[in-house]
Amino acid sequence: MPTGKENPENIVQRDRVFYGRRRGRRLRAGMETLLEERLPELAVTLPAEPGAALDPASLFPDSTKEVWLEIGFGGGEHLAAQAAANPDVGFIGSEPFMNGVASLIRHCEDQALSNVRVYPDDVRDLLPLLPDGSLTRIAVLFADPWPKKRHHSRRIIQHESIAEFHRLIAPGGELRLATDDIRYLRWMLARATAHRGFRWQAQGPSDWRVRPEDWPETRYEAKAREQGRRPAFLRFDRL
Ligand SMILES: C[S@@+](CC[C@H](N)C(=O)[O-])C[C@H]1O[C@@H](n2cnc3c(N)ncnc32)[C@H](O)[C@@H]1O
Repeated sequence: MPTGKENPENIVQRDRVFYGRRRGRRLRAGMETLLEERLPELAVTLPAEPGAALDPASLFPDSTKEVWLEIGFGGGEHLAAQAAANPDVGFIGSEPFMNGVASLIRHCEDQALSNVRVYPDDVRDLLPLLPDGSLTRIAVLFADPWPKKRHHSRRIIQHESIAEFHRLIAPGGELRLATDDIRYLRWMLARATAHRGFRWQAQGPSDWRVRPEDWPETRYEAKAREQGRRPAFLRFDRL
């Protein structure tokens, strides 16, 4: 778990670049307390034994029908709204940025949500431990586009991650991706449609240019629109 003491934009962790900064503005005292008091019970902890799996359903009550994962939830507004709208679903959110984690916990407190768990770190450490077909939906919304060519290998959407999402999502489930960057949009589409186990749902432009009703706006999307960029919303069926 991040200690929160690191601050450089890109931290080289093990053999890879960590995507983002772990702590930005100093947290208000109330948020700091919220993290201290609530995160221990909400945090997903990885099994200590090497090679052990983590069944995401075990994190929720037996009545939970399915588990959805949101990668890089930012301020957590989309995740919290989805959790409120889908009380039978267990939600795992992954976000290494502690201000975002505190913001999600605030939303959960305000809306009295009990179906949310948090992995407050790099999702790439969590994914390999989850069993095949253990999720029903994965959302990666407005992931960092890493526009420079020499940084494209840092993009979270790669052929390998698409294959990993396919392994994790049960047949009949869904993958959701969003971006406001036209070049990243082409990159995402090329990789997701190259995988035979995913089918893009779009029949026409409005299916990806207009945000679906069951897809609450994220903070990043609002900012992108304010700045005149046009977001794209991609939904893929897991075959
Ligand atoms: C551009 S922001 C978008 C945030 C949010 N989804 C939204 O739309 O407002 C991308 C987020 O992904 C997070 N992120 C980047 N790499 C990640 C990783 N490997 N695991 C989990 N989160 C990651 C970043 O910390 C950042 O909050």
